[in-house]
Amino acid sequence: MLSAKVKDLLNAQVNAEFYSAYLYLDFSNYYKDEGLDGYANWYYIQAQEERDHAMLFIQYLQQNGEPVVLEAIDKPDMNYGGFIDPLKEGAKHERHVTDLINTIYAAAHEEKDFRTMQFLDWFVKEQAEEEDNADNNVQKFELFGGDAKGLYMLDNELKARVYAAPSLVLD
Ligand code: FEO
Repeated sequence: MLSAKVKDLLNAQVNAEFYSAYLYLDFSNYYKDEGLDGYANWYYIQAQEERDHAMLFIQYLQQNGEPVVLEAIDKPDMNYGGFIDPLKEGAKHERHVTDLINTIYAAAHEEKDFRTMQFLDWFVKEQAEEEDNADNNVQKFELFGGDAKGLYMLDNELKARVYAAPSLVLD
């Protein structure tokens, strides 16, 4: 049985992951409007991954006999002044999500809730990857995105990203 604190934090994370999906869809829509189909593709797939994360938190709560409460998802409130803005915001947002995961982990640790800690181990690793990918996007844009040819090549590179289901599977 999950403690009330851990259960509430896990439930809040369902909303946070759906918000991440919403935010990244907003990035994707922005790039699509601007004609950068590769960046649009990359964030469209990222939004799918975030939806998967939300589903995993839902499944974990249900596996533990806890009801899931779906709260309203905030509207992404972004004003994009340039192509690098979503990339920088994405990197900042992933660090925020890492803090959220760490907070749940710390609460589970405090409660000696080893089952939840084991479930969260996948997300701890995932967050390291997510931060790395987001930082790479910023760095590559800063290096090569300043001229039309470089941007065209970067955009083409990001078109190659394909969706893959998460490696974590809950019964
Ligand atoms: Fe669900 Fe991008 O972390």
